[in-house]
Amino acid sequence: MCGIVGYLGSNHAAPVLLSKLRVLEYRGYDSAGVAVIESGRLNVLKAVGKLSNLETLLQKERPSATVGIGHTRWATHGSPTDENAHPHINASGTLAIVHNGIIENYSELKADLIAKGYVFRSDTDTEVAAHLLSHEVEKDGDVLAAILRTVSQMSGAYALGIVSQNSPDRIYAVNHHYSLTVGLGENESFLASDSAAVRQYTNKILRLAQSEIAEIRADGVRLFSFDGAESSREPVAVEASAYKIDKEGYKHFLLKEINEQPLVLRQTLSKYLSGADKQVNFNVDSFSPDIEGMYGVKMTDEEIRSIDRVQIVACGTAYHAGMVGKYVIEELCGIPVEVDIASEVRGRKLLGNERTLSIAVSQSGETADTLAAVKDAISNGSFTLGITNRPDSHLAQLTQNLIVTECGIEVSVAATKTYAAQLICFYLLAIYLAEKRGSITPERARQLKVGLNQLPGVVEQILGREEEYRRESLKLADAQDVVFIGRGFNYPTALEGALKLKELSYIHASGYAAGELKHGPIAVLDSSVPVITVLVPGKVYEKTLSNAQESRARNARMVAICVDGDETAPKTFDYFFRIPAVEELLSPIVTVVPMQLMSYFVADYLGKDVDQPRNLAKSVTVE
Ligand code: G6P
Repeated sequence: MCGIVGYLGSNHAAPVLLSKLRVLEYRGYDSAGVAVIESGRLNVLKAVGKLSNLETLLQKERPSATVGIGHTRWATHGSPTDENAHPHINASGTLAIVHNGIIENYSELKADLIAKGYVFRSDTDTEVAAHLLSHEVEKDGDVLAAILRTVSQMSGAYALGIVSQNSPDRIYAVNHHYSLTVGLGENESFLASDSAAVRQYTNKILRLAQSEIAEIRADGVRLFSFDGAESSREPVAVEASAYKIDKEGYKHFLLKEINEQPLVLRQTLSKYLSGADKQVNFNVDSFSPDIEGMYGVKMTDEEIRSIDRVQIVACGTAYHAGMVGKYVIEELCGIPVEVDIASEVRGRKLLGNERTLSIAVSQSGETADTLAAVKDAISNGSFTLGITNRPDSHLAQLTQNLIVTECGIEVSVAATKTYAAQLICFYLLAIYLAEKRGSITPERARQLKVGLNQLPGVVEQILGREEEYRRESLKLADAQDVVFIGRGFNYPTALEGALKLKELSYIHASGYAAGELKHGPIAVLDSSVPVITVLVPGKVYEKTLSNAQESRARNARMVAICVDGDETAPKTFDYFFRIPAVEELLSPIVTVVPMQLMSYFVADYLGKDVDQPRNLAKSVTVE
């Protein structure tokens, strides 16, 4: 994963690189660094930990160079140390590389280079690329030719940014099954892994194709394929966007984003459920001009009716949204749905054909495992549909059908508002498919749409109970292990609740299907373990209550997420997070909110790094 940036022009490179790295910090924050070329000499500055450490270093050193590359790291090969921080240099310190991805054959290449006398300072695969490139540059001094020879020896999916004293007036970028965007300004050029970090500065962008090399100068760019053939493409004009990072008075981005959920739900609903007839309509204007025409569900009614199976692939929180999607699509459309953790599709045969709808859910649209699964679905000839918050992402480019969640940038690493938006998109999609297939009555569809439109207000009411939730949450802050249980539509909520608590507070937590607890996990229960139960009126209320009673019989600390006016719950539970009642099918959007807040309050109370939890990154671009 990691983030790559680059700049060359007439301004000082360091502040530009730093501001672009700030946009990319969500990709990792184990270390950060820059390599600039000052008066023809390479200068590398790097610092372990958050970007602020690099910022302090740059303020002290004040490099005046106008050419440079930068990197923010999420450790894959080698722990987060100074030695392993990027940029990596060759033995003579004349060229530097920043890298995103994995060089899969790095061990063989490293052994070969060691045999040739190269000495390694880090544990990274990146340093292999630095020495290999240096070895090739020494042959004829031609950096571009050396890059071509280097990439022909490396396998894996990766992106590189390169500066060299041999070509001090240019930056090289290599994209091999990754994402890199070049931005072209007035006599200055930019490079970044995420176009948001380019659009801060210019509205003329060029996304590198797969297996492409860019030779970037201040006044333009030349493009080459891996066989050395030059090609040309006009940059695309996009809307330059100021990337706003503002907590707006909240203590943390996470709390701000939890509180933005009513707005996000309203925006998504008004975008896709507008019009007098209140039909679901995904074919709307893109808010991102550079992807015009890619937005929406393009399948014909006949194609929708032909689907006999749905598969959903995703990772992390998006996977939990996919699980809710499964329950909802099965219920409303009567089509069998499988949900897969995207990494579990790797190395396995993903079954599917031209009657399969393959849905990939990814906030970032850049999760490597999810993208790989989509490629498998494409090769099966399945219909593909992406649900993402980034219309400019890889996922958006890959999928035939695209639904964009209307969330704005989510800064906090733990996903909250994007989960709410993914859920709402699944509800809308299920209704859309069900109406086209005639699997629900018009009356049921109307009832669901009314229910959906009430959700933003319900979530608002829940957020108004923040103080009450804080008090209850802090009673759980001493726990070492926490168990979350739920059934049916709220089984995924239990998984998501456990994930949020783990990510944010580092307290061990597990989510289980409530009915499965007795088949093993119940062994961990004693009086120190809180069991957080999602208990909402509906088909599984009684059974969930029975499972909670089984836990109570083992002296567990019983916590209920239950609805206002539930008079039965107090007989079984000790602590309560009350919520307004909504229809069971729609309840996951509501029941998750107390869990998000609970995780936040516990983590903040324990003094954890709420917005950037240790070891995590928001977008995982390695498999
Ligand atoms: C990372 C993040 C999670 C996220 C997951 C999937 O692990 O830390 O919060 O749910 O990636 O990300 P995606 O962008 O594909 O939704």
